[in-house]
Amino acid sequence: MCPAPAMAFFPNFLLPLLMLTTLFSTPALCYINPATARVQENATETSTHRVYIVLVEPPRSSDAGEDAHRRWHESFLPSSPTAESTESRLLHSYTQVFSGFAARLTKAELNAVAKKPGYMRAFPGRTLQLMTTHTPAFLGLKNGTGFWSDAGYGKGVIIGLLDTGIHATHPSFADHGVLPPPARWKGSCKAARCNNKLIGAKSFAGDDDSAGDEVGHGTHTSSTAAGNFVPGASDHGAGTGTAAGIAPGAHIAVYKVCNGTSCDEHAILAGLDAAIKDGVDVLSLSIGGSGGTSFDQDPIAIGAFSAVSKGILVVCAAGNSGPARGSVSNDAPWLLTVAAGSVDRSFGAEVHLGNGKIIHGEALTQEARSNSKSSYPLLFSEERRYCEYEYYSSFAGKILVCEAMMSTIQKANIRYVLGAGAAGVVLFNDEVTDYATILRDYNSSVVQVTAADGAMLTSYATSSKRSRSMATLTYNNTLLGIRPAPVVPWFSSRGPSYVIPGILKPDILAPGLNILAAWPPKTGSASASFNVISGTSMATPHISGVAALIKSIHPDWSPAAIKSAILTTSDTVNNTGGSILDQHHEKASVYDTGAGHVNPTRAADPGLVYDLSTRDYAGYICSLFGDDGLVTFVRNSSMTCKMLPKVQDMQLNYPTITVPLTSTPFTVNRTVTNVGPVTSTYTAKVDAPKSLVVNVFPETLTFSKAGEKKTFSLTVSSHNVGQEELVEGSLTWVSHKHVVRSPIVASTGAGGRSSIRAPFFVSAP
Ligand SMILES: *[C@@H]1O[C@H](CO)[C@@H](O)[C@H](O)[C@H]1NC(C)=O
Ligand SMILES: *[C@@H]1O[C@H](CO)[C@@H](O)[C@H](O)[C@H]1NC(C)=O
Ligand SMILES: *[C@@H]1O[C@H](CO)[C@@H](O)[C@H](O)[C@H]1NC(C)=O
Ligand SMILES: *[C@@H]1O[C@H](CO)[C@@H](O)[C@H](O)[C@H]1NC(C)=O
Ligand SMILES: *[C@@H]1O[C@H](CO)[C@@H](O)[C@H](O)[C@H]1NC(C)=O
Ligand SMILES: *[C@@H]1O[C@H](CO)[C@@H](O)[C@H](O)[C@H]1NC(C)=O
Ligand SMILES: *[C@@H]1O[C@H](CO)[C@@H](O)[C@H](O)[C@H]1NC(C)=O
Ligand SMILES: *[C@@H]1O[C@H](CO)[C@@H](O)[C@H](O)[C@H]1NC(C)=O
Repeated sequence: MCPAPAMAFFPNFLLPLLMLTTLFSTPALCYINPATARVQENATETSTHRVYIVLVEPPRSSDAGEDAHRRWHESFLPSSPTAESTESRLLHSYTQVFSGFAARLTKAELNAVAKKPGYMRAFPGRTLQLMTTHTPAFLGLKNGTGFWSDAGYGKGVIIGLLDTGIHATHPSFADHGVLPPPARWKGSCKAARCNNKLIGAKSFAGDDDSAGDEVGHGTHTSSTAAGNFVPGASDHGAGTGTAAGIAPGAHIAVYKVCNGTSCDEHAILAGLDAAIKDGVDVLSLSIGGSGGTSFDQDPIAIGAFSAVSKGILVVCAAGNSGPARGSVSNDAPWLLTVAAGSVDRSFGAEVHLGNGKIIHGEALTQEARSNSKSSYPLLFSEERRYCEYEYYSSFAGKILVCEAMMSTIQKANIRYVLGAGAAGVVLFNDEVTDYATILRDYNSSVVQVTAADGAMLTSYATSSKRSRSMATLTYNNTLLGIRPAPVVPWFSSRGPSYVIPGILKPDILAPGLNILAAWPPKTGSASASFNVISGTSMATPHISGVAALIKSIHPDWSPAAIKSAILTTSDTVNNTGGSILDQHHEKASVYDTGAGHVNPTRAADPGLVYDLSTRDYAGYICSLFGDDGLVTFVRNSSMTCKMLPKVQDMQLNYPTITVPLTSTPFTVNRTVTNVGPVTSTYTAKVDAPKSLVVNVFPETLTFSKAGEKKTFSLTVSSHNVGQEELVEGSLTWVSHKHVVRSPIVASTGAGGRSSIRAPFFVSAP
């Protein structure tokens, strides 16, 4: 998931360098060193200890407390002391996410554990990756008016974040205007400052018990979800305004599960276990495994199922592995999977060329840059395309033009040349990044421009009249209303899910490109306590905040109902009616955006919802894994697969509709629940290309009660089979007041065999 950006576009000689530098260079997108992020499996190692996550049957006694769980879990472990006997073997004893534990074992010892009665399955513990002043307004949330204040800015709702910790004393976490936590809150707070805003802080990683944030990521995501109002927020003078999270009235509980930038799965599960116990309402996970991990192989997906069963909405990052199709992770149907888009804000900077042309670019560092009128010669050299000018003497007084790359070495080179007299640097995007510029902090005169503008600039700089290729750099600070927006940048992981081809993933698009939010004070600068970074990590807490606003107004809604509200009210066009675009400024597909771009105000009042209960998911799990799977996921001894209808992925009552792209008519059934006016009538409106034949029955749904349910069926067949992999349409239920939209995704992959591997139970290796 860590960006392996645009490898193919770099010349070979740079590859080793690039691979080396991406390990340390990309905090904006991905905080994890990819070298530590791989599953460390080695079949030949039998004698070394490693962490395993072991699922076992629950203890016999149904009312067993935590001590009884721990004793039961310890009974699986080898009794003979080992060479490492001083180190506690049992790392965590889980009670909420599932019955099981994390322990240090050798392969041989795991084999012995697997022979004990009650053993179910084991996973080698993985190390996972981490995957705003203006965004509330961009999302239509205005101070003192409408839905935002009606929802009390999220009052009474507790958002739990599993992340790198929190810089608790940041002004975003002051509690002015925030009510005391609800009585059901059972958590505790060990942070440097605990108050009505920050009500929970626990650490399961690192040596700092107070869940402090050395990385910044957790501070950024927490403040995006629920940071309080802070006037005058800016990063290097860019983006000045009042900062606020999406749910500034909500409570924050932080579970530190990453040690530095390294997030061990056993710690994530411990955080999840504690969050469920403490009583959070929404869980925000800006962390992910590598794309394509089947959710039955993913203890976090299994653990999140327990959270959802208890009414907690779990919001997860789609991943930063785009733009390849099928790169989405965190794709289990009970998760809300979030893709990243751009915002209509630019940290504007311009390159005025000697020929009169003006290139509109961006610069994160705006502070103390006087707009001098001086113009300088432009210098571009194909041999120094990436700004390797350090041993090249004649750059003084010139503006260097270079292709941007994700690298600390390039950053060091830029610092060097600017220190040694270059007048400025214009960095242009590579072909993969194209129009969606990912701003980086160079703390100097660096302007970033698109790939197209880069082509124009390099041709101007190397033209025959090159001696007269002059340019002036100007800084325009924050510009709003930038078009087009939103745009999906390359890194946002794309669907479809190869694990569940019958469900559209990602679910939703939210701001995740160049997001300004709280940051621990940077060294050498006391004031800069905000930072601009990018990633699906940043998109995720926007949706967690929106979920909190909805939960505040509708405390009784299930996680699936809240998800449905967010998906069916999302925007598929921008505010001038144009399509949402991708990084190449081509129309984005549902695999890029999911249902659409989040629209919080509409999400609060969806009219109808597509609900799903634990029982519905249980039928789906039975269809995949049978009773063995049911026991692992659902843990309800009075449920068996025999008593449940076996539900295929496409038949889950999901708010988006996926069908196979075939000429044979295929029918899905859906049930909608009336959460709008008591009496209302909805009419079906189908929008689809001519090649797709869509029939809805019945075409009208009439409700006369609150909470009333109505079932309809939708049949789809296609004329043009074999021409395309994906055909998009939509079904919209329209009443006087509400518009409830579901994309229809007809795809050649849907209905095929899912890539979930059998057998479900992995016996000890
Ligand atoms: C597995 O570990 C052994 C012993 O540490 C080592 O010799 C071998 O190269 C490793 N294999 C792989 C695939 O990493
Ligand atoms: C928005 O409202 C909150 C709470 O009423 C207040 O604290 C904050 O200063 C306001 N922000 C602006 C920009 O008006
Ligand atoms: C966190 O990482 C540091 C440095 O890698 C290590 O010394 C420490 O033991 C780790 N702490 C935990 C709790 O894993
Ligand atoms: C950024 O640049 C300014 C002056 O150009 C300097 O004072 C400051 O220390 C720099 N900050 C960092 C973090 O390098
Ligand atoms: C940006 O700033 C320059 C110099 O002050 C000015 O000429 C230009 O019009 C500004 N551009 C925009 C879009 O405001
Ligand atoms: C809306 O999208 C269209 C292209 O689909 C684009 O031309 C237009 O500028 C966008 N408008 C805004 C406000 O982003
Ligand atoms: C377990 O399943 C039964 C049968 O479907 C159901 O009645 C009961 O409420 C479930 N228990 C829990 C704790 O969900
Ligand atoms: C859909 O509903 C129709 C009518 O109630 C029923 O005949 C059909 O079996 C249902 N299909 C599925 C897949 O549940």
